[in-house]
Amino acid sequence: MNTVLTMAMPKGRIFEEAVDLLRQAGYPLPPEFEESRKLIIDAPEAGLRFILAKPMDVPTYVEHGVADIGIAGKDVMLEEERDVYEVLDLKISACYLAVAGLPGGNYQKVAPKIASKYPNVASHYFREQGQQVEVIKLNGSIELAPLIGLADRIVDIVSTGRTLKENGLVELEKIADITSRLIVNPASYRLHAMRINELVERMRKLVENKGDVQ
Ligand code: PRP
Repeated sequence: MNTVLTMAMPKGRIFEEAVDLLRQAGYPLPPEFEESRKLIIDAPEAGLRFILAKPMDVPTYVEHGVADIGIAGKDVMLEEERDVYEVLDLKISACYLAVAGLPGGNYQKVAPKIASKYPNVASHYFREQGQQVEVIKLNGSIELAPLIGLADRIVDIVSTGRTLKENGLVELEKIADITSRLIVNPASYRLHAMRINELVERMRKLVENKGDVQ
């Protein structure tokens, strides 16, 4: 009998693109997949079971082995530094991490406050720049922080740039390009090498072919 692989899927903005990619790679997913509120969804015809998780938690499920594989943004991988294999750049949900702030802000300040959903990424970035900062962890709506005086700058995802623009903020420095990655639990990779390699190769072909037509 074929092994059923458990895949951790990020709810939210990556979800639809990830589902599309899996279908295009030839994995039949139930039609109600997108509408369901279920957190565990079986796709027996695809030989897959999905767990739907908060994007930031996907590497945690995979590291602990309750999911064999997962789809996670590079932003989350950089922040979480989990012990998982990053096997393929899926080249979906492209965006980037950047430092932003108010135009004309006092950027010479000693130990400025930096608000971010990515405290580790932010600390690491400013340490590398040799700049001392105080990082304030927020869970969302990061752009609020400089507007109401909680922070001097933010470190956040920029996709279309609309959120920065509509809140009167400007991008100051780009930190890293971000796309979604296919990740694998190391022990699962050894146990289910054939199934996992098949999935990785199908996805790889799809991603490479898409690259060709762009
Ligand atoms: C993300 C990010 C920015 C916004 C960027 O937030 O944190 O706020 O999207 O996108 P844009 O450049 O296309 O405007 P998200 O919508 O995930 O919600 P959050 O504020 O709760 O993190």
